[in-house]
Amino acid sequence: MTKAKRAMKEDLKLIDLVIELVDARVPLSSRNPDIDDLGAGKARIVLLNKADLADEALNRRWAQWFTERGMHVVKIDARNKGTLKQIQAVVQEACKEKIERDRKRGILNRPIRAMVVGIPNVGKSTFINSFAGKACAKTGNKPGVTKGNQWIRLNKTLELLDTPGILWPKFEDQQVGLKLALIGSINDEILNRDELALELVNVLNRRYPGVLAERYQLENAGDCDTIQVLEQVARQRSCLAKGGELDLPKAARLLLDDFRSGRLGRITLEEPEIAQDKGEKNQDGKDVKR
Ligand code: G4P
Repeated sequence: MTKAKRAMKEDLKLIDLVIELVDARVPLSSRNPDIDDLGAGKARIVLLNKADLADEALNRRWAQWFTERGMHVVKIDARNKGTLKQIQAVVQEACKEKIERDRKRGILNRPIRAMVVGIPNVGKSTFINSFAGKACAKTGNKPGVTKGNQWIRLNKTLELLDTPGILWPKFEDQQVGLKLALIGSINDEILNRDELALELVNVLNRRYPGVLAERYQLENAGDCDTIQVLEQVARQRSCLAKGGELDLPKAARLLLDDFRSGRLGRITLEEPEIAQDKGEKNQDGKDVKR
């Protein structure tokens, strides 16, 4: 077991509830399924974060997918406090067995302790800041809390570990790496941005045909190969190098930026059924419920 995983296991001993953030545009690629083992026996909430950038119809289907696997789900935009309002009620619902157990033992008003986890860039710090807001006053070190971890007391019923648990993405799966690169979770410096933009053209043509043609007023986009699409984008947006020739790297950057910032519309890069087809069915062909 890696050091990071051991540390997370230790932290998880202290809590009742795991609040896992995933990126709603790639809800599976942006999680590490090890959290299902690590968080076994804990109440679970999945926050479909960046829901503002994702396809609403698919947000609903992904919410159902996680719900079927025993998790409570809330769609949020971590930057927007209004979208976080339902979380308190969902926390109570997710932890009702613990609250009931406490009540039977005569323990009243013991706050629920929660920890936020997720892969880098999924929005953990933004969420903690928005959700905890002014309540960021620390309750001080307590015995058993590792490495100076502190608790943020949100209210009488909920305390949050102040540092989020960082999960590692499943990089060894190339498709996962590609999707994380497309949404901008992996530093572009270490990737070939031009190839990435061509991949984006491919994915969009497959999943959201017409989006690029509409945004960049492309002509006969359906008959163009991916390079030709990028060339047309460069032409339409006057991405020109010194000699007047097309500046394709500039067009690639523009295209990726437009996608990542939502200017191409709300787009989700993976669907629940396809995820299930990749090994989420049991021998009878039925969906595996976790
Ligand atoms: P992390 O702690 O999990 O690593 O992620 P962090 O909160 O730093 O968020 C990563 C980026 O995602 C930030 O943008 C943040 O503003 C953005 N973000 C977080 N949640 C949402 C959301 O629900 N919707 C949208 N659209 N964006 C979200 P950044 O470009 O790195 O920084 P900045 O532009 O905020 O300065």
